[in-house]
Amino acid sequence: MPRSRRYSSPMTTKSKIQVIGVVGAGQMGSGIAQVGAASGLGIVLQDVANESLTRARARIENSLGKLVEKSKISAEEAKAALGRIQFTQHLEELSRADLVVEAVVEKPELKFEIFRKVDSICKEEAILASNTSSISITAIAAHTRRPDRVIGMHFMNPVPIMKLVEVIRGLRTSDATFSSVKQVGEQMGKTCVESKDFPGFVVNRILMPMINEACYALYEGIAKAEDIDNAMKLGTNQPMGPLALADFIGLDTCLAILNVLHEGLGDPKYRPCPLLKQYVSAGLVGKKVGHGFYKYES
Ligand code: CAA
Repeated sequence: MPRSRRYSSPMTTKSKIQVIGVVGAGQMGSGIAQVGAASGLGIVLQDVANESLTRARARIENSLGKLVEKSKISAEEAKAALGRIQFTQHLEELSRADLVVEAVVEKPELKFEIFRKVDSICKEEAILASNTSSISITAIAAHTRRPDRVIGMHFMNPVPIMKLVEVIRGLRTSDATFSSVKQVGEQMGKTCVESKDFPGFVVNRILMPMINEACYALYEGIAKAEDIDNAMKLGTNQPMGPLALADFIGLDTCLAILNVLHEGLGDPKYRPCPLLKQYVSAGLVGKKVGHGFYKYES
């Protein structure tokens, strides 16, 4: 049976980047590590918490297993990809990376601190990227001594399936940094779209107002959650409706991004829906806790 090529097939042109360090072994970090390893790159996946690394390994094994089941990769390729990932709690191990992709929670102070540390650990020519969905790359870069080698590399969830990477140029990002990152993104089987460094970049600038509007439609009683989602799924050919997608992304993440859009762009059209705020206050933040706009089996 011919093997489907829908999954990241490594491109033939190799970039200068051979080893990628990934900081943060959550859903995004483990997905980035997986696609990097599957494209033949060496990976150092770092997290402070050992249990996050254990969960990341299981998640990667499970995702590679699904791809083997669907004949998108062979069992040998899956084994080799896993073997290319070094799991570590020590940030110092990133000293051998040519590119570091930070994928920790969306807290500016935490990201600034990680960039300061990684800047002092990594070799001079290494590129430092952030997978941030909305924090300014220019502001992150200002916490390093190499702002020309700092860039945004925004992967979409689930990373092994979604084809896009937004590549965000900070004010001082160099052309050489941009082309290396675009090349490695393509090697990882992704399509790279260039964005300037303004709140929400491209995807969240457009996606979050749609999700917010779906929350308003529910809040104002225009339709039930299932009907809002079915209307958008069947009426506009989206794979999941906006409320299910909000649960999938995490309602806390959606709220944080909307706040960045609202504050950063200063336009009241981005004000987060009160119902979204209420769900987040209640801790009903979506699929990851088993309850958001919908309930999920654990
Ligand atoms: N690893 C490997 N394979 C996976 C996978 C994973 N993590 N997740 C899903 N798959 C595979 C499944 O095995 C299945 O394969 P086949 O089609 O070959 O059978 C396929 O993907 C579809 O999965 P499911 O059948 O389980 O479910 P689905 O058809 O409902 O698809 C989905 C799930 C891919 C998540 C789809 O609903 C989808 O594309 N949703 C939209 C996701 C989206 O918009 N993501 C972007 C969010 S925005 C963001 O990430 C940026 C931000 O800053 C917030």
